Amino acid sequence: MAAVHFSLVKLNRSFLVCLWLLGTVSLSCAARYGASNQKLEVKKHLNRLNKPAVKTIQSPDGDIIDCVPISKQPAFDHPFLKDHKIQMRPSYHPEGLFDDNKASAKPKEKKETHNIPQLWHRYGKCSEGTIPMRRTKEDDVLRASSVKRYGKKKHRTVPIPKSAEPDLINQNGHQHAIAYVEGDKYYGAKATLNVWEPKIQHANEFSLSQIWLLGGSFGQDLNSIEAGWQVSPDLYGDNNTRLFTYWTSDAYQATGCYNLLCSGFIQINSDIAMGASISPVSGYRNSQYDISILIWKDPKEGHWWMQFGNGYVLGYWPSFLFSYLTESASMIEWGGEVVNSQSGGHHTWTQMGSGHFPEEGFSKASYFRNIQVVDSSNNLKAPKRMGTFTEKSNCYDVQTGSNDDWGHFFYYGGPGKNKNCP
Ligand SMILES: *[C@@H]1O[C@H](CO)[C@@H](O)[C@H](O)[C@H]1NC(C)=O
Repeated sequence: MAAVHFSLVKLNRSFLVCLWLLGTVSLSCAARYGASNQKLEVKKHLNRLNKPAVKTIQSPDGDIIDCVPISKQPAFDHPFLKDHKIQMRPSYHPEGLFDDNKASAKPKEKKETHNIPQLWHRYGKCSEGTIPMRRTKEDDVLRASSVKRYGKKKHRTVPIPKSAEPDLINQNGHQHAIAYVEGDKYYGAKATLNVWEPKIQHANEFSLSQIWLLGGSFGQDLNSIEAGWQVSPDLYGDNNTRLFTYWTSDAYQATGCYNLLCSGFIQINSDIAMGASISPVSGYRNSQYDISILIWKDPKEGHWWMQFGNGYVLGYWPSFLFSYLTESASMIEWGGEVVNSQSGGHHTWTQMGSGHFPEEGFSKASYFRNIQVVDSSNNLKAPKRMGTFTEKSNCYDVQTGSNDDWGHFFYYGGPGKNKNCP
């Protein structure tokens, strides 16, 4: 769908040019001009996005992973970062209640879960001083509505709890099931979430599970830092579950993007590729695989750092990218989001999380566990007054709980279309 739309728009524009030339130039110029113009634009964009690699790894899922020298990554195309001195480690790392070595101290009680690597690791690794980048292919860009929108979210999609106008949030079909905290200053957030491969009904829908760190109002100036896993056929061309990050400083308008698809995030890690597939994923009544994500603000430099899994520090979003988030976040959200395209007048059967409702519990429903926030003294703490929000609990729902092993947690998700969600 998206690709068709794309070429139609392009064709129209060149068609006008050709009409203008009509009389001297044959009509077929329209198609030829359109195609070559688009090809050129896409090629130029690919040249900007993909960086010269010192090594290339072919992943079993069809991805190409380029090992790119740290100093050649997209961030340094940004004029403000020309003279930036890369921080190779954070000056500060918050300590929490559930550090992974502590959590495994009580194996008896512990529900069996596993940490997971990325699929491309089977075929090689990137050396120190380089970062693995998922190569963008021509088809990836062609699936976007335009070259400029490639790698960006289409709509303002952030869940707005307690909104006076639920219809407004729903109008672009985005649905959420989340837990959140607000009303304080937050300097980071952490959680461990299990990974699934939700079914997507239409290629222009997606399903994701993530953490949002938000600053500012929900108007045009919203600042957001996001990380988690997603299935997005439009963005990646398949149904694989992939690790992703996102940022914006103007409510998803001109600034920000997924992963390294624009200048912004500075990656220092040579093991983890953003946008790469995670495998294996959890199975219903089967093994559970989960990932930990920690995002925190370095109190010295002011940058927002991200850690993945058992201590892969991925890199950071420089403080200057943001307005409100240069100080602190005013709201943290954890949970799932899907797009419901409502095709044929029915709710989509695109799944959120495991595709099962929270009541089903461990090994059946998707979860976020050991949820913590970084407070103003830069320590990881249990969240106070965690609220929940969902637009249509008959389609996707959320249920919180707490215990010694999992701290604050919640189960969330659902199947979408069912008899109570027609
Ligand atoms: C993704 O899954 C949908 C059904 O869930 C299927 O129709 C589609 O062909 C799949 N796409 C790819 C690229 O495998």
